[in-house]
Amino acid sequence: MNKPSYADIKKKVERLSSLPTIPPVVTKILKVIGSEDISLKKIAEFISRDQALSARVLKIINSPIYGFPGRISSISQAVMLIGLGALKGMLLGISMFDMMQKTMIGLWEHSIGTAVAAKVIAAKVGIKEIEDASVAGLIHDIGKVALGICYPELYKNVIAVAKERDIYIVEAEEDIIGVNHAEAGSWLARKWRFPLSLVNSIEYHHNPSAKRPSMTIAIVHLSDTIIKMMGFGFSGDPFAHRIEQTAWDTLALTGEDLKGIFMEIEEAILSQETSIF
Ligand SMILES: [Fe+2]
Ligand SMILES: [Fe+2]
Repeated sequence: MNKPSYADIKKKVERLSSLPTIPPVVTKILKVIGSEDISLKKIAEFISRDQALSARVLKIINSPIYGFPGRISSISQAVMLIGLGALKGMLLGISMFDMMQKTMIGLWEHSIGTAVAAKVIAAKVGIKEIEDASVAGLIHDIGKVALGICYPELYKNVIAVAKERDIYIVEAEEDIIGVNHAEAGSWLARKWRFPLSLVNSIEYHHNPSAKRPSMTIAIVHLSDTIIKMMGFGFSGDPFAHRIEQTAWDTLALTGEDLKGIFMEIEEAILSQETSIF
């Protein structure tokens, strides 16, 4: 199969919610996420109407990804605590669960792990938006799912080539499809009017120095690497990427801090039940 054109890829990825292979419940969620006048109250009502979705939201909000394990029992309470941007991201993560599994075995665990790591690092560097950072971790690789859904055959090839040639998945994506998952993911995040910090952390998580220094980008970049180093889940990369200097400088962590972060992440991951769902 030939490489699709850049314009075709963009069009297809942005119209992802109308693809016939997308399950109806996901289409509904994506519609809610993308509707212009959506409010916290409306999202809460939408979630509450669907029992399976409510259960998933409560499970994930009581998990180590967020800061309130075991205390949240109602959707309205959950919604108030995490804010609109993080909630939209969380719904996107939840709605993509099955598709993540289909795109790449281990991608869900990689995403959950990155979300947990992002939460730990955000708390350590002392930013206020801990939920935003963890949700950015949860959906940072959403572009892989988008490319996998839009170009299933090509994407299978991408995964195989990264492994065979021992190259990063980003390089294989650019080689075989023509666009990498960071860019593809940012198209979706923009289309769904995600907060700018979320869009940026998706777009620059592999290349933080291309953007003005930002805490969230740096946090997602570091979390992604740490989770790969720990061997938790699978991201398609044969090895962990190095931590970019810009990201490291932005976080201003010491070696001692990093040691503590590794231990905390390990503990948080081990304390999870077998799976978040
Ligand atoms: Fe990535
Ligand atoms: Fe990743």
